[in-house]
Amino acid sequence: MKSAIVTGGAHGIGRVIVNQLASEGWHVGILDLNVADVERDEKLLKNCVAISADVSDVNSVEKAIKQFGSTPDLLVNNAGIVRFGPLLTLAQSEFEAVVRVNLIGTFTVSRQVAALMVADGKAGNIISITSMNGVVPGPNSGAYTSTKAGVALLTKQMALEWGPHGIRVNSIAPGLIDAGMSNAVHADPEIRQAREKRIPLRRLGTAQDIANLVSFLASEQSSYITGENILVDGGVTMSILSTLPRPKSVDSVGPSE
Ligand SMILES: NC(=O)c1ccc[n+]([C@@H]2O[C@H](COP(=O)([O-])OP(=O)(O)OC[C@H]3O[C@@H](n4cnc5c(N)ncnc54)[C@H](O)[C@@H]3O)[C@@H](O)[C@H]2O)c1
Repeated sequence: MKSAIVTGGAHGIGRVIVNQLASEGWHVGILDLNVADVERDEKLLKNCVAISADVSDVNSVEKAIKQFGSTPDLLVNNAGIVRFGPLLTLAQSEFEAVVRVNLIGTFTVSRQVAALMVADGKAGNIISITSMNGVVPGPNSGAYTSTKAGVALLTKQMALEWGPHGIRVNSIAPGLIDAGMSNAVHADPEIRQAREKRIPLRRLGTAQDIANLVSFLASEQSSYITGENILVDGGVTMSILSTLPRPKSVDSVGPSE
């Protein structure tokens, strides 16, 4: 049976990724700060083990991986936090907290897991969840955006260094997702509708949209893909020009004779 570790797998998008992998027959280790919810889910625990861990703490990660008990075939770095605030006034401690979990946490878990994969001669697979905010900045998101951009490039760096060991490393950049940390943003129906109108595919993304790509990247069907940061955003990141005012007249001009 193939095995996977999913960080932050107890809630939100991570929980859906865990369900997807478990439904495909993976044995999954859920590494999360708060595993109380998962420990009550008897059905899920048939294929999964819940392990309490803090990805920003190197000793906690080491202990958790030991507790998992074997070298996983797949690591999904999904644990993440956001702290909104303008860069001029955001507390230094908040900025550093986001860096510690999102960027340093991804590095810490990836390096420990990759070292085991290399030692075992295992062709492994690492997938990190970044964000469209690692591609474009967002309002009051400076701490978050810089860490997600950092993880996107860390992904390429790891892919470059660990590819010769047979380890593929990719990341998934979700857009506006109707789950997890964005629940508060989408709770207001007016804001939700206004957002949906601006998305080329006219809907918010779901956690399942992200889990589906995890499933593909974890499979042999993607065996020649590495170092990519793949947007799953319904086209919203590329749609800036279509939201700007534009005179109708210019769109009816044909090619010059
Ligand atoms: N929801 C969205 O709209 C959205 C959009 C883009 C990217 N993302 C990314 O997707 C990932 C999952 O986000 P979500 O929306 O499901 O958030 P969430 O807050 O619902 O879940 C995050 C999970 O990570 C865990 N976690 C937090 N800090 C941790 C730590 N130090 N160690 C271990 N576990 C920790 C939490 O306990 C929780 O289970 C994050 O990396 C996030 O940045 C989310």
